[in-house]
Amino acid sequence: MKALVLAGGKGTRLRPLTYTTAKQLIPIANRPILHYVMEHIRDAGIRDVGIVISPETGQQVRQALDHAGFDVHLTYLVQQEPLGLAHAVKISRDFLDDQPFVMYLGDNLIGQGLRPLVEAFERARPDALVLLKVVNDPRMFGVAELDGSGKVRRLIEKPKDPASNLALVGAYLFGPAIHMAIDGLEPSWRGELEITDAIQRLVDEGRAVHSSILESWWLDTGKKDDLLEANRVVLDEWIQRDVKGVVDDGSQVIGRVVLEEGATVRRSQIRGPAVVGAGTVIEEAFIGPYTSIGLHCSIIGSTLEHCVLLDGVRVEGIQRLEDSIIGKGAVVRRLHGKHQAVRLMLGDDAEVLL
Ligand code: G1P
Repeated sequence: MKALVLAGGKGTRLRPLTYTTAKQLIPIANRPILHYVMEHIRDAGIRDVGIVISPETGQQVRQALDHAGFDVHLTYLVQQEPLGLAHAVKISRDFLDDQPFVMYLGDNLIGQGLRPLVEAFERARPDALVLLKVVNDPRMFGVAELDGSGKVRRLIEKPKDPASNLALVGAYLFGPAIHMAIDGLEPSWRGELEITDAIQRLVDEGRAVHSSILESWWLDTGKKDDLLEANRVVLDEWIQRDVKGVVDDGSQVIGRVVLEEGATVRRSQIRGPAVVGAGTVIEEAFIGPYTSIGLHCSIIGSTLEHCVLLDGVRVEGIQRLEDSIIGKGAVVRRLHGKHQAVRLMLGDDAEVLL
């Protein structure tokens, strides 16, 4: 079995972060989302992995994977334009050959990993196996309608009026019949070749389309709140205490905290779960739960909770920063002037909630 990881696209819903970073490389608990995806693939025993990249961010993705030591064979496949998930499979036709494959969206994360899904597929060898999850608002996803016996009857991409609350999770398993289904597709209303439509064609042809309902969590990190939620869940479930940095006598590091080597904590308190990257300085600060701080940041005289800070961020004199994502090298600092003006230099599409 091969794997196809989709790591292209434009990431418009995560701007401004995605002006400089591929959405699949945005860190969750200080690791790119894509690294968790690769770990799931490797742990499912798959060694031959195709990575679909875009011309804009492909180089970054390569750098993030080439020396990450996943011990799998990587083939990079350039998708010139983001024309849909089925289009990504189409341009990967030679790599995939006629082998069964798992397709994993590089900005999705599932709590249970891939192994149970791969095993179920190997046992039954259907033409497709889709993973479904009960969600509150299915209109943003592909939605599945099952018959009484749990067989897939219909799949619709982003329906206005969903027939069920079962969303298609971004991990699919396919046999070679999917290629024929893709060959006859027309672009959807959003101008994309939809994998959902291709699977529907398999259903229409009476092919074996199996489904499995995911019991563990699923995170689609496509938007700000989803990203913060992913950070919370990953810190909660996958982080163990590991304090390698320097903590002075006036500080406390409580609970499941990763403090990387070369990080320094002075006269501060950190309450886990939290991660702090190498080279970061925390001084006279309180770092609350569910916070990830990247490399070479400085947090001085501030309180942070439920935040994601990318590398090189400086936060100084801020009474309370919550539910925030701060991009690389950004500065958030209180000035001690007479009047209470807010002075900003914000990147395109930035959001400030005061
Ligand atoms: C894609 C699929 C959709 C699926 C979702 C999962 O949506 O088209 O069926 O439910 O991924 O993340 P997109 O991210 O392209 O909007």
